[in-house]
Amino acid sequence: MDRGDNGLTVRKIRSGTVIDHIPAGRALKVLRILGVEPEQGYTIAVLMNVESRKIGRKDIVKISGLEPKVEDFHKISLVAPTATINIVRDYEVVRKEKVKPPEKVEGILKCINPTCITRQPREVATPTFRLVSRNPLVYQCIYCGSLLEEKEILEQLA
Ligand code: CTP
Ligand code: ZN
Repeated sequence: MDRGDNGLTVRKIRSGTVIDHIPAGRALKVLRILGVEPEQGYTIAVLMNVESRKIGRKDIVKISGLEPKVEDFHKISLVAPTATINIVRDYEVVRKEKVKPPEKVEGILKCINPTCITRQPREVATPTFRLVSRNPLVYQCIYCGSLLEEKEILEQLA
């Protein structure tokens, strides 16, 4: 059982994914990024604002029956840089991975500079960013040099 949750314990899952150590308040962003909806048949548990020894307060998302794709790991890292993704099979954690915001992000984020080449209607330049800082999270557009900060990244992926 997860401790520190004031009795709101959520049972272990048999198979699926547990995304742990999500910064408090961002669980729903993680679910949105994964594109999972209860209508698809998944059983989903969301614990918000749980006490954590590692990061103060955290959110936890458990999705029974889903194993995320590799691209999803990168997207999750942009809204939840502290997250750990646990893949569970037969009640055992078979894979545990701490997400890491990638050095290069292609096609997920949008440049904030309206005159950037990536924002021009007839251009085919894919928005591409390089990592400047992980904490706080900052990316830079490789075309115009504009900085994209954590707040903007969160808004874009909301
Ligand atoms: N979990 C689950 N169902 C399982 C196995 C694990 O819901 N069948 C959950 C645990 O409750 C925990 C997370 O998956 O929230 C990671 O499990 P585990 O690695 O066993 O816990 P810790 O060692 O505490 O993880 P960490 O070191 O990453 O904090
Ligand atoms: Zn740009």
